[in-house]
Amino acid sequence: MSAQYQVHGDVAVITLANPPVNGLGLSTRQGIVDGLNRAQQDAAVKAIIVAGAGGAFSGGADIKEFGTDKSMQEPNLHSVIAAIEASAKPVVAAIHSVCMGGGLELALGCHYRIAAPGCSVALPEVKLGLLPGAGGTQRLPRVVGVEAALNMIVSGETVKSELLGSMPGQKLFDRMAASPESLAEEALAFARSVADTRPLPLVRNLPCKHPQGDAYFQFARNMVKGMSKNYPAPAKCVDAVEAATKGKFADGLLVERELFINLMWTPESRALRHLFMAERAASKIPDVPSDTPKRDVKSVGVIGAGTMGGGIAMNFLNAGIPVKMLEMKQEALDRGLATIRKNYEAQVKKGKLKQDKYEQRMTLLTTTLDYADLKDADLVIEAVFEEIGVKEAVFKQLDAVCKQGAILASNTSTLDVNKIAAFTKRPQDVVGMHFFSPANVMKLLEVVRGQHTAKDVLATVMALAKKIKKTAVVSGVCDGFIGNRMIERYSQQAGFLLDEGATPQQVDKALEKFGMAMGPFRMGDLAGNDIGWAIRKRRALETPDMKYSRTADKLCELGRYGQKTGAGWYDYQAGKRDAIPSDLVNKMIEDHRKELGITPRKISDEEIVQRLVYALVNEGAHILEDGIASKSGDIDMVYLTGYGFPIYRGGPMHYAGEQGLFNLVQAMNRFAQNPRDDQAFWTPAPLLAKLAAEGKTFS
Ligand code: 3HC
Ligand code: NAI
Repeated sequence: MSAQYQVHGDVAVITLANPPVNGLGLSTRQGIVDGLNRAQQDAAVKAIIVAGAGGAFSGGADIKEFGTDKSMQEPNLHSVIAAIEASAKPVVAAIHSVCMGGGLELALGCHYRIAAPGCSVALPEVKLGLLPGAGGTQRLPRVVGVEAALNMIVSGETVKSELLGSMPGQKLFDRMAASPESLAEEALAFARSVADTRPLPLVRNLPCKHPQGDAYFQFARNMVKGMSKNYPAPAKCVDAVEAATKGKFADGLLVERELFINLMWTPESRALRHLFMAERAASKIPDVPSDTPKRDVKSVGVIGAGTMGGGIAMNFLNAGIPVKMLEMKQEALDRGLATIRKNYEAQVKKGKLKQDKYEQRMTLLTTTLDYADLKDADLVIEAVFEEIGVKEAVFKQLDAVCKQGAILASNTSTLDVNKIAAFTKRPQDVVGMHFFSPANVMKLLEVVRGQHTAKDVLATVMALAKKIKKTAVVSGVCDGFIGNRMIERYSQQAGFLLDEGATPQQVDKALEKFGMAMGPFRMGDLAGNDIGWAIRKRRALETPDMKYSRTADKLCELGRYGQKTGAGWYDYQAGKRDAIPSDLVNKMIEDHRKELGITPRKISDEEIVQRLVYALVNEGAHILEDGIASKSGDIDMVYLTGYGFPIYRGGPMHYAGEQGLFNLVQAMNRFAQNPRDDQAFWTPAPLLAKLAAEGKTFS
C-alpha cells in the first residue's frame, strides 16, 4: 500500500508514500480510504491528518496510470474526496513542497489545510491537455475567488503557497506553518485545536459568484481564443469554472467530469501526456544508471566565437558558469563579444533581463588567443569551421593542453565524432554536444555518444544540459545524428514535390497549416541553403546513386542562399524577414520540370503533408533499428524542441501511431507507385513494417 497509517496520541496521520511525487495511483487512493476507515473506527482518534512523504505532498493523479484500467478503478479520486468529506472526524491536509493537480483537489476536499511556505501550488492539468477533473474547477474558485482560480486553471502556472496564503480573503489555507521543518508539529497542534469543532467546514458549501457574471466569462473566452485553435482544454476550463458559478455544486461537478473525460480522449491531450513522459525519459540512458558519478564542471572553454560559439557561451553565462572563449584572431573575438553584448542588450531593452544581471554575466566571460589558457577548463566545446582538418588541429591542441579529466566536446553537425575523438589520446573524454541555432534560444541539445565516450562523461553532460535548461537527447554516431538525418529525407520529398508540380509556397503553407513552425523552404532560407548544398556535394561523392531533385542546387548556383543573401526560395526586402514568392524561382522550377519532361500535376495539401511527415517517420524507424536513438520518444523530443514540430501532435513517431502504422505503410506503398518519386525511398523500414503488421505503435 503506498500510503502509511500512524497514530500520534489522538491524531491519525495518513502519509502518502508513492515516490517520486506521491502520485495518486490506485494503491495510494486505496491507502487513503483504508486509513480514513481505520481512523473512524478508532475511538481514541479525534482528528486525521493527510500528509505527503518525501519531496512532495502530491504531484496529482498518477500520469503513468492514465489510459489504463487502474485510473478508472474504485476508489477513484472522486470517491476518495467524498470519503474525506463524509468523515465524522476533521481531516487536515498538511501540505509541503509540491501540491498539484489531484493533490490540490484532494487537499480542497479536506476540512482544513495547513501549508508550509515555499510550496508549489498548481492545477497544471491544462498542460496535459486536460482540466482538473476531481473538483478543482468547482472548489478552487470558492476559496481564492473566480478570477484568481480561473487564471491558475487556464495557465496551469505554479503559485507559491505564501503568496496564496497572503491573498486577502483567501480560504485556501487555514494556517501557514512557520517553516517546512515545523509543518508536522504545527499540523498536529492544529488538528487537535479543531478536533471538537462542529459542523465541519466543507469547501463545497462556500458560495461561488462573479460580480460581472456572463460578461466576465465572455472576456475570459476571448482571452483563450488565440490558443484554442489547436488546444481544446483552455476553453473547456472556462466552461467548467463558469459552471461553478451557475448552479448547485453537484451540477458543476458533473459538468467538470464530462468535460474532463472528453478531453482525456483528445489527440491533443494524448500528445501532451506523451511529451511529459518523453521529456523526462529522454534524460535517462539505458546503460548509464542515474547514480553514475559526475565530473565537476565549474568552468567552460568555447573555441570559435562565430554564430554558434557565442550562443553556446551565453548558455553557460546564464547559468553562472564562467566561460573562456578562444579564437584565432582578435578581430574574430571582438566580433563574437559584440554579438553576445548585442543579444544581452536586446534582452535588457525588452525588459527580459536586468542591467545588473547582464553585467554580472559579462564578468564571467573572458577571451583568449592562446590554447594554454584552457588548461584548467573542466569542459571545452569546439565550434569552429565544419572541416575535419580544422577539427583535427583543434582537438590535437586540446589534447596537449587540457587537464586530465576535462571533457572535450564538438558541436559538429555532420562530422564523425569517433574520428574527432581519435585525434586525441583520450577518446573516452570526447563527446558531441550538438546545439541548434540560435544556441542561446533553442531548447534542443543532441548529445552524441562516441564509441568510446565514458559513461560519466555522458552523465555529466546530461546533468549539465538540465542546468543550462536544454532538452538533451542522446544520439549515436551517424551522418546527421537524429534530427538532420531525418530532415534530409523530408527535404528530399519537398524537392520531388517541386519537380512534380508544387510551388515552395504551397509546400510551406501545407506544412505550416499542419502546424510546423516553418515550412521546409522558409526553413532553408533561414538556415542557409548553402549548408545543405555543401552536404549534398559531399554525399554525391559518397553515394552517387542517391536520387534527389536538382532544384535546390540550381537555386544555390544562382547565389540564392536565403535570408543572409537577401534571396533564396523567396525574395526578401532589405532588413526584413517576410518571405515574398519569387517569380524567378517559380520560373526556375518550371524550366527544370521541362528539362525533366514532367507535366505538372495538382498536388493536394494532404499528399504534401503525408509525404514529408511519413518520410521523417520512416527514417526515424531506421534510426531506432540502428540504435542511433534508444527510444521513439527521444526522436519526438528532437523534433518538438529542435525542428518546430507541432507540440499538439506529439512528435513524428507519436503522430505516426495516432495515424495507425498500417495506414502509414499503405500510404507509403501508394507513394512508391508514383513514377516521379523514388521507389526505394518508400520501402518501409523493417521495424515500421513489423509494428504495422502487429497493429502496434513505436512506443
Ligand atoms: N504522476 C506520475 N509521475 C509523476 C507525476 C505525476 N503526476 N508528476 C511527476 N512525476 C514523475 C516524473 O515522471 C518523474 O519521474 P522519473 O523520475 O521516473 O522521471 C519524477 O516524478 C520527477 O518529475 P520531474 O523530473 O518533473 O521533477 P521536478 O522536481 O522537476 O518536478 C513536479 C516535479 C513539479 C511535480 C513535476 O513533475 C510536475 O509538474 N508534474 C506534473 C504535475 C501534474 O501535471 N499533475 C496533474 C496530473 S493530472 C491530475 O491530477 C488529474 C486530476 O485533476 C484528476
Ligand atoms: P562560424 O563560421 O560562424 O564560426 C566559426 C568560428 O570559428 C569563426 O569565428 C572562426 O574564426 C573560428 N575558428 C575557425 N578555426 C578556428 C581555430 N582553429 N581555432 C579557433 N577558432 C577557429 O561557424 P558556425 O556556424 O558557428 O559553426 C561552427 C560549428 O558549429 C560547425 O562545426 C557547424 O557545423 C556547427 N553547427 C552550426 C550550426 C549553424 O546553424 N550555424 C548549427 C549546429 C552546429
